[in-house]
Amino acid sequence: MTTQELDLMDPKAFADGIPHDHFRRLRQTEGLVRGTDTDGESLWHLVRHRDVAAVSRDPKTFSSSPTTMTSIRKVDPSPPIITFLDSPEHTRIRKLTFKAFAPARLAAMEASIRGIVDTLLAQARERGSFDLAEDIALRLPFEVLLELLDIPHEDRAMMLGWARGTVNLGDEEYGGDGGQDAFQQIHAYLQDFARHRAGRRTDDCFSLLLDARLKGADRLGLPDRLTPDEVGLFASTLITAGSETTYCSVTGAVLALLDFPDQLARLRADRSLMPSAANEVLRWVTPVTHFARRVVTDTVVAGQPLAEGETVVMWYSSANRDEEVFTDPDRFDVARTANPHLSFGGGGPHVCIGNALAVMELRQFLEGAADLLPLLEAAAPPVRSETNFMNSVKYLPLRFR
Ligand code: HEM
Repeated sequence: MTTQELDLMDPKAFADGIPHDHFRRLRQTEGLVRGTDTDGESLWHLVRHRDVAAVSRDPKTFSSSPTTMTSIRKVDPSPPIITFLDSPEHTRIRKLTFKAFAPARLAAMEASIRGIVDTLLAQARERGSFDLAEDIALRLPFEVLLELLDIPHEDRAMMLGWARGTVNLGDEEYGGDGGQDAFQQIHAYLQDFARHRAGRRTDDCFSLLLDARLKGADRLGLPDRLTPDEVGLFASTLITAGSETTYCSVTGAVLALLDFPDQLARLRADRSLMPSAANEVLRWVTPVTHFARRVVTDTVVAGQPLAEGETVVMWYSSANRDEEVFTDPDRFDVARTANPHLSFGGGGPHVCIGNALAVMELRQFLEGAADLLPLLEAAAPPVRSETNFMNSVKYLPLRFR
């Protein structure tokens, strides 16, 4: 398709994968390219690394409110989740919740994450043939999130049962109703759990969030603590933000390593490459293709004047292949060192709060899977899900040779 023909807001434009050739042409086009969202709203596509980073780091000019979503995901969330807030409300929630991701907490989770990876891989091995997307990539992040949130073990199977309805929204086979049922069930459960914890603290994650206090909150005229309902909403946000993203990074990692056996061999021969391999998978896959921002005051990006109220779409998928920043960007290189990918956002206040956890999960998965991957072959071609928002594969049938 030519630059003019391809509509980036149409999921069909992503049916054969991320349209990298199209993005390359757009990066070479002066200024910004105009597009239209599915609801008819006009928008500007940002495809260069420097533009995506500059907009992400300038929240005074580019707002995340009322939403950073486009197309079918553009629902009006009320109350707004952290992602759709600007400061000072955003800063308040971010500071009050950051402790849930404190390095010591994450370090303490490393062994259990590895345990989850090993159990899922052992189950796959026992079956002989399995679907990497459904049986492993979908379960891993959910099990890790339940661990992060210290959800009681007796409730975890029920939560896992809701998981499938929350991914691949827009794809007819998945979340057909926009995932509303599954989200509502998860949210209702977490809300109840937060209210319960408010009356009976332990040393778990919910108690930590309920006990957090924000210094100087009165100067901002904001509450210095989270209400139980805010804790429930934040926990629900983690479930949505931390699951589909990781799911896509795991399927994408396997596809990349099976497509480039030389890189898999290199990784297996030198395990010290695991950290750079995890980063390269994140760049290569770019699980979240884009987020949007709303222009708050008239400004100029890449020479293009933008008016208050207009929308810009930041294409991380394109920024991560920008030849101005990455040497040989279309080469998957597990030893890539300079790798300032924007898969967790372009920096600024909204940069992914769970990025360290996500990298840890991916690394544990790569370490657990590295020796199994050479024993695997495709049982059928992978099937992409219908979405322009995630780089998502919904079926990835594999079997042991
Ligand atoms: C490979 C996995 C992941 C990817 C690619 C990813 C990507 C992103 C991106 C692109 C943003 C938006 C940045 C922006 O608007 O500027 C974001 C924000 C966020 N992510 Fe992640 N994420 C991942 C994993 C996780 C995990 C594991 C969690 C939690 C357990 C998480 C929780 C969040 C939250 C709560 C936000 C909103 C932060 C804010 O608005 O301040 N993410 N993520």
